[in-house]
Amino acid sequence: MREDIGHNKEQQSSEGSNDLFASKGTYCFDPKLKDLYLEIFEVVSISMSQGIDKNKVESSISSIIKAFKLHINNNLLLYSYSVSKQNYIVSHIVNNTILAIGFGCWLNLSDNDLIDVGLCAFCHDLGMKEYTNLFQRGHQLTDEENQLIKKHPQRSIDMINNLFPERILNAILDVHENEDGSGYPNKKMGAEISYIAKIVSICDIFEALTHPRNFRNEFSPYEAIKMIIKKKDSFFDENILKKFVNYLSIYPIGSLIYLNTGEIAIVIGSNKGYPTRSIVKILLNANREAAKDEKFINLLDDKMVYICGPVEPKGVKEILHFLKPRGDFDL
Ligand SMILES: [Fe+2]
Ligand SMILES: [Fe+2]
Repeated sequence: MREDIGHNKEQQSSEGSNDLFASKGTYCFDPKLKDLYLEIFEVVSISMSQGIDKNKVESSISSIIKAFKLHINNNLLLYSYSVSKQNYIVSHIVNNTILAIGFGCWLNLSDNDLIDVGLCAFCHDLGMKEYTNLFQRGHQLTDEENQLIKKHPQRSIDMINNLFPERILNAILDVHENEDGSGYPNKKMGAEISYIAKIVSICDIFEALTHPRNFRNEFSPYEAIKMIIKKKDSFFDENILKKFVNYLSIYPIGSLIYLNTGEIAIVIGSNKGYPTRSIVKILLNANREAAKDEKFINLLDDKMVYICGPVEPKGVKEILHFLKPRGDFDL
């Protein structure tokens, strides 16, 4: 998972404008995207409980692609920090699909590849529905339970029932394979692993780390990206990892950061090629009071303001609690 001040030209209120910084195409605020998030959530829920409706799945994926093609920095990614504690596998699938498509758009993948990425992310954990009881117990999984859960990629394939082409099925099976052959189910290595799966896989791990589980709290986006980089020699394709870190930047979207102005802000967008010059929304002013008016800053435009560092994990909790429960940012 940021830096501006006194930047009136760019600091528009969302009132009367749904398209912040639209003139530069860097960040789009669109309240309708929250409805899209909820719609996708519904389609994933139904797919898990009643079976896959191919048309609805493809339409959800097309809508996400369209949102990112219009604005690579839009508020859809921020909504994906929300989590349904009752049904976190569903929210994991929704969030991963959004993140993977956002990353795929940033990579300039072809339309066909973007659809493949979306389908792979959407379907990769549907088979987890058989194991949801294991996650409700509030403890880390035992070795035996872990072995059982490793069957979920095949269960996902079984549920798809040949609705999608073989390359999608292969990609779904490969999401948990690691670059060094330490993954599952087939212990594939390097080039044996589907490129689409590699994209979904890195998003999958980032999503999982940045959301809570019954047995642990979530890690901040900044911590998660550091943890992912530590696995560079074993889990990930180096090229994809570098691109992913570039996409999310050093302070990924959703990170809480200190600015040199004394303000605390949340990162809402990135500028390609400028990993520390993010687009931020001010949450607390320099006196640690909640910002009264909406203030957005594109740090690429105001070089006087810069990010001093991430808010430490315990500080994140205090600030989020002070403002609003996580997942309910009023953007
Ligand atoms: Fe999975
Ligand atoms: Fe997953």
